[in-house]
Amino acid sequence: DTPTIAVVVGSLRHDSLNLRLARAIEKLMGASMHCRYLQIGELPLYNNDLWENPPSAVVTFKQELLSSDAVLFVTPEYNRSIPGVLKNAIDWGSRPLTENAWRGKPAAILGGSPGMLGTAVAQSHLRSILPALDLRTMPQPEVYLQLKPGLIDDSFAVTNEATRTFLSGFVRSFAHWISRQAGAL
Ligand code: FNR
Repeated sequence: DTPTIAVVVGSLRHDSLNLRLARAIEKLMGASMHCRYLQIGELPLYNNDLWENPPSAVVTFKQELLSSDAVLFVTPEYNRSIPGVLKNAIDWGSRPLTENAWRGKPAAILGGSPGMLGTAVAQSHLRSILPALDLRTMPQPEVYLQLKPGLIDDSFAVTNEATRTFLSGFVRSFAHWISRQAGAL
């Protein structure tokens, strides 16, 4: 069975470098995985009171998450942490507590920035959050990319061979991690 991957991109920008990175990863996956991009920009700011009559964006988000086999976070770094929109989506998925939609899912993280640190600090924050959701996050490989112009072209091909090989390895590891976690459940 082809696993469905819920892709959560931590940027709402149309020209997001991280969305571009996600598309490049999707291309490297080929037919081995199916990507479903979750719409986190429509989610309201988290408010527990909204559960009385949940907005449709929340209901859709949770349904799509629940029916996915794994989660891929692709996030920018904002002021040395993850963007608020991503944290907001994480919080919506995690409640009500008995309906934590992240529970038990295999997950992986990657991100890129124009700067040299390549989202390392943001990813470190994200890694400390995910166990609270009971997500099973792949430890290695870690991917901290400096996204220079042209590294990913307009057809989402990775133009640098070493980077392409590295990211292909990430995709293979993720596929292996998903099948291992499925066996463990
Ligand atoms: C940034 N940026 C940034 N980059 C970084 O490497 N470390 C950081 O702490 C920050 N902080 C930060 C805060 C805010 C509010 C913004 C808007 C930007 C720059 C960021 O990496 C750059 O804008 C990326 O292009 C954002 O990712 P997307 O939207 O292209 O995916």
